[in-house]
Amino acid sequence: MDKIDSPEEYSIKLRNSFASSYQTGTDLWSKDQGLTDIALFLLNHLNKESPQHVLDIGTGNGRHAELFLRKGFRYTGIDICPHSDWERYKSLYSNRVMFVNSSFLEWQWQHKETFTAVLDNGCFHHQHPEEYTLYLQKIHHLLHDSGLLALGLYTVDEHERAGNFHVMPSGKYKRHFSQQEILSLLNENGFVCLQMKRILVQDRNRYYLAVLSQKKLEE
Ligand SMILES: C[S@@+](CC[C@H](N)C(=O)[O-])C[C@H]1O[C@@H](n2cnc3c(N)ncnc32)[C@H](O)[C@@H]1O
Repeated sequence: MDKIDSPEEYSIKLRNSFASSYQTGTDLWSKDQGLTDIALFLLNHLNKESPQHVLDIGTGNGRHAELFLRKGFRYTGIDICPHSDWERYKSLYSNRVMFVNSSFLEWQWQHKETFTAVLDNGCFHHQHPEEYTLYLQKIHHLLHDSGLLALGLYTVDEHERAGNFHVMPSGKYKRHFSQQEILSLLNENGFVCLQMKRILVQDRNRYYLAVLSQKKLEE
């Protein structure tokens, strides 16, 4: 069994691991078409006729910002690692885009306004397991009633009921979720699943699970 850090210790390792990948140009996910397919999956479910404000947790270099900004939507990206590419989007779409350098759980959103959609594309599956609930509850709180949450996750084979958990050499955690597991987690934290699909990334020899869910209204 891999040794688990405390959430505080882990948050430092997580940031260092991602920062080192960006610094050394080994951020292979920044060219991953599967993650772009998941961003498009969310985009295709947003009503283009009504105002939208998308929160992208773990925005990375911000490469998916323009998909939403070009449609006239507002976009807020948050990441534990700042990226120089953010400046380009800020200069092009100044009044509709914002980037925040913070860990999602430490971030304080200072406005009353809620988000109409949240994208978490390759970020949730690296979080500390003790914080999954806190993390999903925070998304729930930040979302507008009936707002959408799209998750892009590592996954196991379709027939497997249990996922798996690994500690990578950098100390970063990697959780593969089964469909059953993510359905339960979402349900326990106030979301109803609308659609799920497996996305093959041939270049990286892996599947992602794209999960589209909706905030349940309070009963
Ligand atoms: C696999 S990358 C995906 C980046 C981007 N979504 C993409 O598709 O290119 C995951 C990103 O999540 C960020 N991240 C991880 N944990 C985070 C946290 N707790 N709060 C904010 N950002 C986080 C990392 O720094 C990294 O940029």
